Amino acid sequence: MNTTVVLMPADTDHLLALAAEARERAYVAYSGFAVGAALRTRSGKIYTGCNIENASYGLTVCAERVAIWKAVSEGETEFDVLVVVTSIGGSPCGACRQVMAEFALDMPVIIADLEQVHSVSTVAELLPGAFLPGDLLSAPR
Ligand code: THU
Repeated sequence: MNTTVVLMPADTDHLLALAAEARERAYVAYSGFAVGAALRTRSGKIYTGCNIENASYGLTVCAERVAIWKAVSEGETEFDVLVVVTSIGGSPCGACRQVMAEFALDMPVIIADLEQVHSVSTVAELLPGAFLPGDLLSAPR
């Protein structure tokens, strides 16, 4: 088996605590499934996110994308590590993986519940064969 070993990034405990705190702010009026995320950029800043649902269900946004969009909207596109916390250590959805891949294929993603880390893997591992910005450049119409 070909397994890549991803080392635990520094200060993971702090990121886990911030993601768990953000999870408390999740607006989950419909699913009741709260998700928290903490994204550290290469500059050292941390952006948190929670999922935000809507009565028009399809408008719901995931915690991971809220954190990423907060960072990008502040001019930060170089990411160091992303932590995702749910009550069950649930896995990021495909849409969030694609958004992560846009910016940071090598970024470690730490998936955890409220007590422990379930896995640490890179975005490339979570989304093999991601559609990337370069794919657009090489495509004839
Ligand atoms: N959710 C996230 O916030 N992140 C994911 O990666 C998976 C799903 C949210 C969306 C919705 O508010 C709830 O979890 C149930 O799908």
